Amino acid sequence: MPSDSFLPLRFPEGFWWGNASAGHQVEGDNVHSNWWAWEQLGKVNDGTRSGRACDYWNRHAEDHALMRALGMNALRLGVEWARTEPAEGRPDEAALAHYRTLLEDARRNGLRICLTLNHWVLPQWLAEQGGWEAPRALEAWEAQVRRVVRAAGDLVDLWVTLNEPMVPVLAGYVAGYHPPCRVAPLAAARVFERLLRAHAIAYRVIHESLSRAPDGGAVMAGFAGAYQLVEPFHESGLRHALEKPLARAIEHSSFGAWDRSVATGRVAVPYGLGRAISGLAGSVDFVGVNYYTRISARLGLDTISNVKSGGHACPPGLERTEMGWQVYPPGFFHVLDLVRRTFGKPIWITENGCADSGDDARRRYLLSHLAQVHRAIAAGCDVRGYLHWTFTDNFEWREGFEKKLGIVAMDHEDPELRRTPRQSAFLLRDVARANAVTPEIVHAHGPGALDPWPLAPDSRGAALAPADAASGRRTFRP
Ligand code: FCB
Repeated sequence: MPSDSFLPLRFPEGFWWGNASAGHQVEGDNVHSNWWAWEQLGKVNDGTRSGRACDYWNRHAEDHALMRALGMNALRLGVEWARTEPAEGRPDEAALAHYRTLLEDARRNGLRICLTLNHWVLPQWLAEQGGWEAPRALEAWEAQVRRVVRAAGDLVDLWVTLNEPMVPVLAGYVAGYHPPCRVAPLAAARVFERLLRAHAIAYRVIHESLSRAPDGGAVMAGFAGAYQLVEPFHESGLRHALEKPLARAIEHSSFGAWDRSVATGRVAVPYGLGRAISGLAGSVDFVGVNYYTRISARLGLDTISNVKSGGHACPPGLERTEMGWQVYPPGFFHVLDLVRRTFGKPIWITENGCADSGDDARRRYLLSHLAQVHRAIAAGCDVRGYLHWTFTDNFEWREGFEKKLGIVAMDHEDPELRRTPRQSAFLLRDVARANAVTPEIVHAHGPGALDPWPLAPDSRGAALAPADAASGRRTFRP
């Protein structure tokens, strides 16, 4: 469908434009963490280790100035628990003060702050006691949240308690390829419950400690979830019929059960039997949506390995990113609508992006995904900002440094760690400055990038029904 008649796509006034990162992936030398210890065992696919990463810990001022020059008005970043409490019960005040300096610098550069309190990584001392399963884990976590809020609470506009809590549960305890690398379903269920409690604790501490956000508005806290649209691989016939329940099961176990638990305040099946968690119900002021791809559930001999590796079956004709993930922009629209129906709360895009060493695919990806965010807003989703994953190429967990997700190129081997903006950085700059995707931007960066996808809010019959946050019930199917 020719897209020009839909342009420009204007975003709401005050929309956040920025990038997202996580401490361990950019700061460097997170030496007291469980991921650092795991990397030293040579576990990373490309044989690298996070090492000095992007040295953001020391070069934050350079990065913030570049963000500002690129027209960004926001930044999502994380705090590393292993830095602020490198040894049990012995907080590092200098590290806390350093985070404060770093956040002040970001604010001086006109960046509003979204701060993630935990992005998977734990201090090694806690990992040695059993990680989230350790008897003292939640007590220690509460103390950690308190010290971060005390040190920097006045500088943070948006709090992400936990990043993608289902990743440590599934990759750490079911598929077993992230630390602690276990295949232990009962432990997965225990960790799921612990993380629900951790989220509720952080939410409570933030609200007990702070009465307003830096701009005088309401304190906003929530979690950031890893969302995918999950659909049957086949579009019709018997295999489609058989794949439908598989798709539902994948969706439920990978994020639906978490969302239901938070929305209802009770641990959802299959991770629990409905036990109420204190302080959980109503513990979101916003939801952070991380969206990258659609999962096409395919029944076949490779179903189990596919599901374990993240379900990377890709219908013919669709592009894949260098992570192997299918590019499916309309999934973004549907996921945003799903989250709106579940929670009925404001939404920030806390991650979205694409591994691409060339940068042309990233620009097409950016344009087509921004168009779907706009489509969701036009259909009634209260989306307040877009935080692209990511700014500089960084340490991509078990993929190491091989995958390039930055709008700014950075070679980990370069002694100077030079930052070189890619064309996609200028694309994002132009969108941020215009607060819109204009015809000029599309023609300059990705002619035709929007054409294959629906752009009208109600195309594919997706009229939006009212949210039903109280029961956590979702009625939506595309
Ligand atoms: C998300 C993670 C983030 C980054 C991207 C590519 O699942 O939250 O840290 O690795 O994937």
